[in-house]
Amino acid sequence: MTNLLKLLDLSTDEIIDILNLADQLKYEKKHAIPHPLLKGKTLGMIFEKASTRTRVSFEAGIYQLGGQGLFLSSQELQMGRGEPIQDTARTLSRYIDGIMIRTYAHENVEKLASFAGVPVINGLTDLAHPCQVLADLMTIRERKNKLEGLKMCYIGDGNNMANSLTVGCLKVGMSVSLACPNGYHPDEGVLAFAKEYPNFELLSQPAKAAEDADVIITDVWSSMGMESEIEQRRVAFKGYQVNHELLKLAKSDAIVLHCLPAKREEEITSAVLEQFADVIFDEAENRLHAQKAVMVKLMGQ
Ligand code: CP
Ligand code: NVA
Repeated sequence: MTNLLKLLDLSTDEIIDILNLADQLKYEKKHAIPHPLLKGKTLGMIFEKASTRTRVSFEAGIYQLGGQGLFLSSQELQMGRGEPIQDTARTLSRYIDGIMIRTYAHENVEKLASFAGVPVINGLTDLAHPCQVLADLMTIRERKNKLEGLKMCYIGDGNNMANSLTVGCLKVGMSVSLACPNGYHPDEGVLAFAKEYPNFELLSQPAKAAEDADVIITDVWSSMGMESEIEQRRVAFKGYQVNHELLKLAKSDAIVLHCLPAKREEEITSAVLEQFADVIFDEAENRLHAQKAVMVKLMGQ
């Protein structure tokens, strides 16, 4: 593994190895056992979109590993004035040991990685959010003590979260049922991958997708960059909501996850979010541990 661009690039063993290391780092942090595995290393963090969890968990994470993070707003880099990504990649690689980037077009991350001489981590693109899904898998395994054989149901937009959840959950042996409105399906490449799995279904009715689910996940109806579509999406996604009525169809011990930020009363009711706040904020916490594991795997030695 030389980069983390999307989960499609990782084998099942690589995903499980990251989760195991993440569990170990979480244990060590809880017991105040230092783990300076990236002493003296620097992670550059390029942001073209807003972030709370990704920014802070990467910055705190690299510090806890003995290194340091550099927050690089694209607006303040020459990139914001049009310097090509390939020149940014080659320049940064002369100074630092890894690059995390949050941007729009996934192709830009692929391009950055192909020109960078250091590992590149995708901190969210329009296509994929691999770091979030590693944290989600870690959280599911903590709560259910396994992954294989569980059913994950995703309700809503076929966006970056739907794409990465589909790939990640299928790779670790889970069943995946998606409920997405017509016109808002996941990425074609992801669907081509998923269709090879008998335990994958793409439906249009949330109620059917939620049947006997162990984990129910949703995400905002309008992702970052889609602000101009908010009104039209409110109409298209009506009914694609995680609420108590939907939860009744899932297993009685089902958990609910949300990557956050959430739009209460749109994709999830406030009541469901608050009922599952413990697990949802464990999920947010696990970004820290999962990403520390990713950084150690990519930037260690
Ligand atoms: N879930 C997530 O990536 O959160 P931020 O947008 O706050 O980083
Ligand atoms: N799908 C959302 C996830 C935010 C963490 C977005 O891209 O805005």
